[in-house]
Amino acid sequence: MKIVKKIGALRKALESPRCQGRCIGFVPTMGALHCGHLSLVHRAKKENDIVVVSIFVNPTQFGPHEDFVHYPRNLKKDTKILKGSCDYLFVPDVREMYAQGFRTRVEVGGLGELLCGRTRKGHFTGVATVVAKLFSIVLPQTAYFGQKDAQQAVIIKKMVTDLNIPVKTIVCPTVREKDGLAMSSRNAYLSEGERRDAVVLFQALKSAQRLVDSGVRESARIISVLNDFITRTVSARVEYIAIVDEASLSTLEKIERRALLLLAVTVGKTRLIDNMILKIKVSGNR
Ligand code: PAJ
Repeated sequence: MKIVKKIGALRKALESPRCQGRCIGFVPTMGALHCGHLSLVHRAKKENDIVVVSIFVNPTQFGPHEDFVHYPRNLKKDTKILKGSCDYLFVPDVREMYAQGFRTRVEVGGLGELLCGRTRKGHFTGVATVVAKLFSIVLPQTAYFGQKDAQQAVIIKKMVTDLNIPVKTIVCPTVREKDGLAMSSRNAYLSEGERRDAVVLFQALKSAQRLVDSGVRESARIISVLNDFITRTVSARVEYIAIVDEASLSTLEKIERRALLLLAVTVGKTRLIDNMILKIKVSGNR
């Protein structure tokens, strides 16, 4: 695995494999790698000749009062974790990615203001901008994202379609801890007690599917039950619970067949998100 810090050097290194027609798979990350990230890297390895992983804690996707400064950074550990699974590790610094006077922004209108975008103003513009830049630096055939960040995945897919970016985006399933907590670099912020409480997100998602299985279809009813469950079980603050169409993110009042349920809950001082596809099981459909 080669570690590359400069855009020019990465472009040069990828030139010859690209000319030879070798497939390049790309996994953008912000580091503090865990098995969720690794699942994307392994999928990319399986489906491509060359795998590029980027680690860049992108300042433009953090709000002024968010955790940019404290976001976990451990390049040495990340490098060890990636060894053998990736060919190029791209680790640009902020100046390399955002040269002085940088002005262009990619805004995926509407989708970026919903759900997490309500409280994280400008977050998805920062995400779309950096991913567009990374795509144009790496020029991969395929890029891999996690369902864990469902809204992000929808926004990137929309950006790729709208801007005719020739990159296929694949969304991989959420990897969870044994108790169901979705793996996240931010789980490191949780105290022991908060870590125990954090499982409430997954428990809430599962109880929603049970409600659907028992015949409940009204989103408002499910959201209200989940809100009560979370606030009664632990001392956590629910930012939102939403049931939406998985492609457009538009609110669904009733569940017909499938729906995307998303949660954002703050446990202690740590904001956690999770989601699940709710499915109506069709009996006799074998
Ligand atoms: P980061 O949070 O580091 O996540 C990188 C990728 O890993 C994202 O596609 C995310 O959805 C995926 N991921 C995180 N936790 C996961 C889990 N438990 N299971 C499966 N996949 C998981 O998301 C970002 O970075 C940034 O916004 C980025 C896209 C790199 C742009 O800066």
